[in-house]
Amino acid sequence: MIEKVSENKKYVKFLTYGCQMNFSDAERMEGELAKIGYEPTESMEQADLIMINTCCVRETAEDKVYGKIGEIKGLKRKNPDLLLGITGCMAQKEGEKLIKRAPHIDFVLGTNKIHEVVSTVQKLEAASVKHVVDTEIRESEMPEDVAIHRKTALSAWIPIMYGCNNFCTYCIVPYVRGRERSRLPEDIVKEVQEAAAQGFKEITLLGQNVNSYGKDHGKASFAELLAMVDKVEGIERIRYMTSHPKDLSDEVIEVIKNSRHICKHFHLPVQYGSNRILKAMNRVYTVEGYRELVRKIRAAVPEASLTTDLIVGFPGETEEDFQQLMEFLAEIRYDQAYTFIYSKRSGTPAAEMENQVDDRCKHERLNRLMELQNSISLEINQQLTGKTVEVMVEGPSQTDDTVWTGRTDTNKIVLWKHSGSEKPGDLVQVKIHTAQTWLLKGELA
Ligand code: SAH
Ligand code: SF4
Ligand code: F3S
Repeated sequence: MIEKVSENKKYVKFLTYGCQMNFSDAERMEGELAKIGYEPTESMEQADLIMINTCCVRETAEDKVYGKIGEIKGLKRKNPDLLLGITGCMAQKEGEKLIKRAPHIDFVLGTNKIHEVVSTVQKLEAASVKHVVDTEIRESEMPEDVAIHRKTALSAWIPIMYGCNNFCTYCIVPYVRGRERSRLPEDIVKEVQEAAAQGFKEITLLGQNVNSYGKDHGKASFAELLAMVDKVEGIERIRYMTSHPKDLSDEVIEVIKNSRHICKHFHLPVQYGSNRILKAMNRVYTVEGYRELVRKIRAAVPEASLTTDLIVGFPGETEEDFQQLMEFLAEIRYDQAYTFIYSKRSGTPAAEMENQVDDRCKHERLNRLMELQNSISLEINQQLTGKTVEVMVEGPSQTDDTVWTGRTDTNKIVLWKHSGSEKPGDLVQVKIHTAQTWLLKGELA
């Protein structure tokens, strides 16, 4: 009998979709799997374990996952020992249904199961069970004391809280991530210090609504946490997301204004520009309240950039609402907007609302919105031509390795010709000569 040649090495391939929180979770699951000998690979063919860390914020995100699950069926035929695990938000939402639809899936773990990944894989390796499905959210448990395999080179993701309490009527996140729970400030500061010791120059603090950080345990507010993190030596830039306008306090603006390292960039998703739709979305603030917040930010930190998320085609959106949104954009003048077409998520209140907007109309409005926003973004960027900006070096651009890329503290992407000496993490001065909608080009000053 010919024995199967074993390299004695096991490989895991991660496919991660969705937001930074999901990428951060994947880094922790990968760190945990390393404890039982799994090394990361980029190759699906080489993998002994494939983990699809899913998102379900829009239908398109779910379609991508079903496509991938289908592809893996062929790989499992060639390699019957290959394990396939589905984790993340769609796993939380669909649970058992995923395995009914695709029986070649070995396990489904929900969003709060980072601690359970190792024991689940071990059970399946030992073939003591056929499938594992675990989507219970125990909100008292947080993934502390887990190993982390950071995948990013420059910026470290640091989760500060999990879950969401807001229940915006279009959004699935609170149903799949559970209620808000904040990590302890000392655990967060320790993780930031460790990232600095590993050479990270930038960190991004993560939460669905970072402004409500600490309201559950009362040990520190978001403003206090920012001030603590700002003191960590070695970290040059601090970013955070996402900031809900209803909870952005004056203290937070003040801390950012006086900080050493917190980036002068406010990502403040407004979602819509008419009070009627904001109310139907359960965003809690009004157009007037938001406008006042922007005024305060710009008065305190005039050089700050401002970006947003927008949804078009929310149920009941009329041409009049849409006109108000367009006027609001022209008034606020965001540096950048991430625009989404409303996607019906079953189980959310908006999915049951009447007057769903038809697809053609949604696309047509999205195009008009993007056209307006692109022209504003370009005009704002053009004001930077001839100016010198400070850029944190990231590395070679995707298309040409002599052209390097990095970001300003206001989060604008800058490209320049590499001199041969600047390294990732360095801060360099770049004089801008060309402005485009999504990036700036220049030369070292
Ligand atoms: N917690 C963050 C957002 C997380 S989801 C916040 O409150 O800002 C990221 C973005 O996806 C949201 O800002 C919203 O613009 C968009 N989004 C959420 N649900 C959506 C849906 N059902 N259809 C389309 N876009 C959606
Ligand atoms: Fe979704 Fe609203 Fe929570 Fe953001 S704040 S995750 S949009 S429910
Ligand atoms: Fe998607 Fe879950 Fe993030 S639904 S956007 S991966 S919190």
